[in-house]
Amino acid sequence: MLFSRVRLGVNIDHVATLRQARGTSYPDVTEAARLCEAAGADGITVHLREDRRHIQDADVRTLRGTLRTRLNLEMADVPDIVAVALEVHPDEVCLVPEKRRELTTEGGLDAAGAGNGLRATVHTLNEAGIEVSLFVDAEPAQIEAAHALGAPCIELHTGAYCGASGADATRELDRLRRAAAQANALGLRVNAGHGITLQTVDAILTVPHLDTLNIGHSIVARAVFVGLEAAVREMRARLSRS
Ligand code: PXP
Repeated sequence: MLFSRVRLGVNIDHVATLRQARGTSYPDVTEAARLCEAAGADGITVHLREDRRHIQDADVRTLRGTLRTRLNLEMADVPDIVAVALEVHPDEVCLVPEKRRELTTEGGLDAAGAGNGLRATVHTLNEAGIEVSLFVDAEPAQIEAAHALGAPCIELHTGAYCGASGADATRELDRLRRAAAQANALGLRVNAGHGITLQTVDAILTVPHLDTLNIGHSIVARAVFVGLEAAVREMRARLSRS
């Protein structure tokens, strides 16, 4: 039987966070992406937030022209960012909920409660040939709704599992496994991400049907000590072992 390996998407937002903290031209986000690719990343993920706190529009445009792998653009469903996506044409868009005051994305989209606006955006991006993924919590109604909205892919929010311990962690991991099985049965491609570290990745890899894990903060933090290529290689090796 042939097994396909789980792909690694490296989120490089926090390379840009370091640059924006001082308003310098370094560290260079494009060079960071090149190093991640050289170290085995299967794709690069960036989140163009409405407040542009880290990644800037110019970063997304430059990455589109320089990446050798896939560009996954995380974004909120708001008109000016949808316009950037249609102009830049990333390989994939992951639609996420966004709150101005949050430190990071706090939960999945409410696909089940979304109106026609989200359906229209999914349709527009699908028609443009951009693969759409909806970032959702591991809840049956959200998976069902993502499918009903016409998204070919979901990204399961792993933050609840990664932040839990003991019996809560066991329950969260079980929810992720069941959600992945449900999504796969509906024909959805299954990605996962948020909060994944070297400590939590092995358990996450027990979730079935995973296509891609999108991992950012822990890799960039680890890079401070071992360098970016080594940090990516370390995580890549874990995924390859799965
Ligand atoms: N996936 C999604 C949808 C996200 O919003 C984020 C954070 O930007 C990530 C993955 C990566 O999360 P982390 O930086 O915690 O690895």
